[in-house]
Amino acid sequence: MAETEGARVTVAVEDGIAVVTVDNPPVNAISQAIRQGLIDAMAEIERNPSITAAIIIGAGRLFIAGADVREFGKPALPPTLPEAITAIEACEKPVVAAIHGVALGGGLEIALGCHYRMADPGAKLGLPEVTLGIIPGAGGTQRLPRLIGFADALDLITTGRQAGASEAAKMGLVDAVAENDLKAAAMEFIRARIGAPLPRLSAMDPPTPDSEDFFETARAGVARRARGQDSPLRALDALEAARMPFDQGVEREREIFLELRGSDQAKALRHAFFAERAVAKVPGFEAAKPRQVDAIGVIGGGTMGAGIAVASLRAGYSVTMVEADAEAMARGLGNVAKNLDGYVSRGRMSEETKAELLAKLTGAVDYGALGGADLIIEAVFEDMAVKRDVFAKLDAVAKPGAVLATNTSYLNVDEIAQATARPGDVLGLHFFAPAHIMRLLEIVRAGATAPDVIATGFAVGRKLGKVAVLSGVCDGFIGNRILAKFRQQADAMIEDGALPWEVDSAMEAFGMAMGPFKVMDLSGLDISWAMRKRQTATRPAEERYVAIADRICEAGWLGRKTGRGWYLYEDGKPSPNPDVETIIIEESTKKGIARRQFSAQEIQDRILHAMINEGARIVEEGIAARPLDVDMVEIMGYGFPRWRGGPMCAADIIGLDKVLGKIREYAGEDAFYWAPAPLLQRLVAEGKTFADLNRG
Ligand code: 3HC
Ligand code: NAI
Repeated sequence: MAETEGARVTVAVEDGIAVVTVDNPPVNAISQAIRQGLIDAMAEIERNPSITAAIIIGAGRLFIAGADVREFGKPALPPTLPEAITAIEACEKPVVAAIHGVALGGGLEIALGCHYRMADPGAKLGLPEVTLGIIPGAGGTQRLPRLIGFADALDLITTGRQAGASEAAKMGLVDAVAENDLKAAAMEFIRARIGAPLPRLSAMDPPTPDSEDFFETARAGVARRARGQDSPLRALDALEAARMPFDQGVEREREIFLELRGSDQAKALRHAFFAERAVAKVPGFEAAKPRQVDAIGVIGGGTMGAGIAVASLRAGYSVTMVEADAEAMARGLGNVAKNLDGYVSRGRMSEETKAELLAKLTGAVDYGALGGADLIIEAVFEDMAVKRDVFAKLDAVAKPGAVLATNTSYLNVDEIAQATARPGDVLGLHFFAPAHIMRLLEIVRAGATAPDVIATGFAVGRKLGKVAVLSGVCDGFIGNRILAKFRQQADAMIEDGALPWEVDSAMEAFGMAMGPFKVMDLSGLDISWAMRKRQTATRPAEERYVAIADRICEAGWLGRKTGRGWYLYEDGKPSPNPDVETIIIEESTKKGIARRQFSAQEIQDRILHAMINEGARIVEEGIAARPLDVDMVEIMGYGFPRWRGGPMCAADIIGLDKVLGKIREYAGEDAFYWAPAPLLQRLVAEGKTFADLNRG
């Protein structure tokens, strides 16, 4: 969203009240013209004797979404946002912010500079700066605690979460919630306050923390949740500065804000923000129109089918689930009800809503029940023969134009599509477990898939609240293909001297949500075991094969579900499985490997470089349209730290020449695994980055 020509602040006087409208579509971002416009508006309000009070309101669908994120990489143009906010707060006539849609970041800071705040019932308010690797930079960390106290301010500022209008009213963040017309209510509200003393947050005394050790305790909690991300902790530093007089506090806040704005983490998080929106805009598919989808069919009611059904019901679709027989059907419907119960028990869904959703779910054992479905998603066993049989049956029952999707993790979607007479209608919709919770959706495009079928995948994905990324057909698509390389490297390191818990703790310190061995224990070791067996016949002779995981599976230790895997789960918590260590050492000895120490840094470097190298191949082969697509898959589906921007963004930050140098160094030990991706070599030779490819 570049600054539009029309970005402006207008002032209209209605019955002596100035209506100041911020207008910069699509989200009223605070560009230079808006900052200047607010200062000019305040000067006019002060000057014009016929104006007695003012409201600030946003044009379009929201109040103000914050600073213009696209200006962050560029030199800041005067006036600054703090200057604009100071002008609002200093106004001698009462000013109220009339908030609808969202007031985020600098938008909320503007509202805090106003003397009062009123919200529409559907409004959301927050300071999401930490999610962009920065902190509020226009007084937010100083004014907010003066208004609502340190405890609530800490929650909002360090998490970046948004509060709804009624919660905001409870906290004291807004003075009133408008019953009907927001603008009329705000005008009436401010008219009643003409002549009253003006509450200015900057003039208030600093608040008192709830307890002596408030900040110390808070720091420990914030650090734990931040997993290596700096901004939440720096936001806490700024918040603590609110114990000082206002002028000193804002100075400290500004220093931290400017320091973070140019940081690598802020760059990476900005990349992630824009990449999350760019994935849905695949070059070449701009003109494709999605087909209408109201009714969804799901085949298979196991782990994935039930999760997909829940996600679909919650998004407002009606769902028909088909299972192999009556018993499996009952189990499938039970799985759906159990998932919904999870929401109810956490207070996130009423019994009534649950009943309404279940009323839109039909179970069947006859494929004929799928005749009304606009989209049919197959989630049966991961077996080509079974899947082809299902798709062949669909030909007879699916209505013309129905979109036919497979949730396969690894199988060739082209081969599945060929089982029907309408391969143009077939695509992969690869959900992640648990499908009603995980936000990633890989949309797999087979050779014959029609463009409007891809567009339908994106439209449904959006409605389901997913971040959908387009992938071509290959073994494992984008995510599982990189995962396979990641795991091979982890396996190689444990055979060479590291221990699984060392690898896990190094990767958790890197910022991953969970180490790779803990993840395997969680999803069950048998899944990848079966895949390795399938691949035996085609495995290249040059490929190093580490048999440690096979030995563990042979012992019957399949992870959490059997009570032990890489770890033991005696009290539910993982502790290293000593028998695993014995097996590992036996396997190293068998191969004559002299085991050596691996530092956490080396473990992180090897795994990251393996991911980057494979990511580059995936882009080069056109499996991913751009490096940013790879980044989003890793962040949304595989626990890669968002603050590192994904592996491709991380590579740019390290420097591609350095990345290539390291890969070449590793290739000295295993030339087959570490062969540098040609794309990486080409970019280095041309002095380009992955970001250049993202720009097209
Ligand atoms: N700056 C620049 N562009 C922005 C923007 C911002 N703050 N917020 C959104 N946009 C752009 C998006 O990139 C998108 O552009 P595109 O159409 O070219 O892809 C367009 O506006 C519409 O955005 P969405 O697709 O996200 O629309 P939604 O309706 O789904 O969501 C929103 C709207 C809730 C406002 C969401 O965009 C959002 O959360 N924006 C970011 C808000 C934010 O982080 N603000 C803090 C900024 S930092 C700050 O204020 C610093 C201050 O303390 C000094
Ligand atoms: P599952 O074993 O839990 O469920 C499969 C279900 O399909 C069973 O309930 C079975 O009765 C049913 N079924 C089998 N043949 C059928 C047929 N002909 N008609 C109707 N129903 C039939 O398996 P899961 O884990 O749900 O996996 C399903 C698919 O999703 C697989 O292709 C898998 O690779 C894929 N997947 C699995 C993920 C996971 O983490 N479990 C993640 C992403 C994809």
